[in-house]
Amino acid sequence: ETLLLTVDEFVDNSENYTQAVDLLNNGEVVAFPTETVYGLGAVATDEQAVKKIFTAKGRPSDNPLIVHIGTIEEVEDYAVDIPEVAKKCMEAFWPGPLTLVMNVKPNVLAASVTPGMQTVGLRMPDHPVALNLLKVLKKPLAAPSANRSGKPSPTKAIHVFEDLQGIIPCILDGGMTGIGVESTVLDVTLDQPVILRPGGVTKEMLEQVIGSVLEPNFEQQKIESTPKAPGMKYTHYAPDAPVYLIDQDKNQIECAVEKLQQQQHKVALLAPQKFDDVNADYFFSFGDEHELEQMSGKLYDALRACDKTDATIILATVTERKGVGTAIMNRLEKAAGGNWYQQ
Ligand code: TXA
Ligand code: MG
Repeated sequence: ETLLLTVDEFVDNSENYTQAVDLLNNGEVVAFPTETVYGLGAVATDEQAVKKIFTAKGRPSDNPLIVHIGTIEEVEDYAVDIPEVAKKCMEAFWPGPLTLVMNVKPNVLAASVTPGMQTVGLRMPDHPVALNLLKVLKKPLAAPSANRSGKPSPTKAIHVFEDLQGIIPCILDGGMTGIGVESTVLDVTLDQPVILRPGGVTKEMLEQVIGSVLEPNFEQQKIESTPKAPGMKYTHYAPDAPVYLIDQDKNQIECAVEKLQQQQHKVALLAPQKFDDVNADYFFSFGDEHELEQMSGKLYDALRACDKTDATIILATVTERKGVGTAIMNRLEKAAGGNWYQQ
């Protein structure tokens, strides 16, 4: 049975935190909210506990986990050769949606956290529940997103419950997460920092603090190739029905919907609010077309909502590759397996 414990900032939830911390100290896994998505945490130094994360998610064991810490000082406990750029990034963006990949300190973390790797991804999350959990626990938490492998990441406790009920003992429900897409993963072990996964801290924001940053062209990265963030090679973020990308063009969208319906398809449309009058079978809003943060916040919930319908095809509108739009497009392209709608 899976406990769903509400942690509301306005009432005293200390016994819920105690319960979660007791479970973690006993080698169990606990799901908790961060500012990006819900994470599935285990004490990062406990190998048996960390293994449970992989089992619960059905996650390939060669995919490393991010280690969440509650203070900047703890970085030195888990990483070595910490470069100046990393320190600048921590100052500027922590707590926040930025994971820094650094050289790992040997023999401290559980082996499965960094399977066969010389590096570790560290991040200090910017969420009151995550920070309080870390503060009470006083240990690092290894935590991937709390979804079954291959499903969109959870942005609500109910998403975690749907994927992992009966499999994990406890979910801390802190409401909807904010940013809605996973953290930016930045490798700072090389001469020039490289973005391994785009996220809430954008290339533009990073460059203001540390100068030039490399960002591979994620659209051209083939799923078969071996990108440096091992997790990027797996199919991801995908609902059950196939997803096709389409421009934010009213005419084109209306034509597509009509044509697909003539082919007996049930069409779910994921698009900004202003397209709510298109005659699709289901409509899930990305919010205001000019507010990329609304789109990132609603993206996974919308993709998951399609699984609750009998839609046979999903049309999702694309956005500019600028700011957090880069992260949104990266996730959309994965959900769509790179497929665009073609007449
Ligand atoms: O926002 C987030 O980052 C969320 C919340 C829960 O913190 N976590 C998350 O974890 O998205 P996960 O495991 O779903 O994604 C971690 C990504 C994977 O693509 C993984 O391969 C990459 O980060 N990664 C982790 N450690 C790495 C390392 N040492 N070197 C390269 N990539 C690493
Ligand atoms: Mg994930």
